[in-house]
Amino acid sequence: MAAQPRKRIFVTQRLTDNTQKRLESLTQYDVDQWETGPLSHEELLKCVKGVHGIFCLSSNEINKEVMEAAGDSLKVISTMSVGHNHIDLVEAKKRGIVVGYTPDVLTDAVADLAMALVLMVSRRLVEAVETAKTGGWITMQPNFLLGHQLTGKTAGIIGLGRIGEGLATRLRAFGVKKILYNGRRPKPDVALRAHANYVDLDVLLRESDVVALCCSLNDSTFHLFDYSAFRQMKPSAIIVNVARGEVIKQEDLVAALSNGIIAGAGLDVVTPEPLPVDHPLYKFKNCIVLPHIASATVETRDAMGNLAIDHVVAGIEGQPLQYALDI
Ligand code: DGY
Repeated sequence: MAAQPRKRIFVTQRLTDNTQKRLESLTQYDVDQWETGPLSHEELLKCVKGVHGIFCLSSNEINKEVMEAAGDSLKVISTMSVGHNHIDLVEAKKRGIVVGYTPDVLTDAVADLAMALVLMVSRRLVEAVETAKTGGWITMQPNFLLGHQLTGKTAGIIGLGRIGEGLATRLRAFGVKKILYNGRRPKPDVALRAHANYVDLDVLLRESDVVALCCSLNDSTFHLFDYSAFRQMKPSAIIVNVARGEVIKQEDLVAALSNGIIAGAGLDVVTPEPLPVDHPLYKFKNCIVLPHIASATVETRDAMGNLAIDHVVAGIEGQPLQYALDI
């Protein structure tokens, strides 16, 4: 009997040390990996030819062209991310390809970072560090680098999923009194745990001191935050985004910050990524841009990597995935 051809996996980046070792121990498969910096779409198309499984990140656009380039052998796309807007799910479904993603394991890391952004922006921490380093710290002055505290305030969360709930818990621990939320539909069970109230978007915008974007990117959230949304926010309010850059219409955020329509922004996600170094968002003292690091802890990235490896292996063997997208 002829030997079965070995199954092939393509991995779009080098992994963490622990998960890289595990990947390298999968000697029963032919594993190809892109390890040298960013992978262009053109290179991706070449690399996936004839593979059975693709292990990707949120920075890799897995569209129809990629699935076509892989061909009929492709059985599974395993993304090491909770977000999946970079994958054409309609096309995957048409081709019978299963798609795995990595929720749950990153909830704490992302909620921690969202909380950190809230504190950094509301207490002007980056500006304070810069001031100290550059000789701006002259003497104790009552008016020096005043921020706002969270005690007794109202926070509005867009998307009360796992991360939104995690952030609500953290905000309450910092004294936030009222948590409002908005999303596709009310989520009474989560809301009960998070002590959150479902309200219309305009109410959330009007009443919140902190607005946090924790939703997924889809047709209803694309550019949800435009100039008119910012205009409805309090001038003292801040916005934090750990969702996807495209939830904010970025040029409108630039205009809102320039015109003092809102008090500040903390962004872990932007459009495009990486954001060019001469982008106007970097020029505002009251805007913090992080290089999409919300899930970047050793513990979380190991957990995400392990789960994504489990998924790619299960998918090529025709086994169920722990977290498959319902497509
Ligand atoms: C993801 O995994 O989709 C998030 O962007 C983590 O930050």
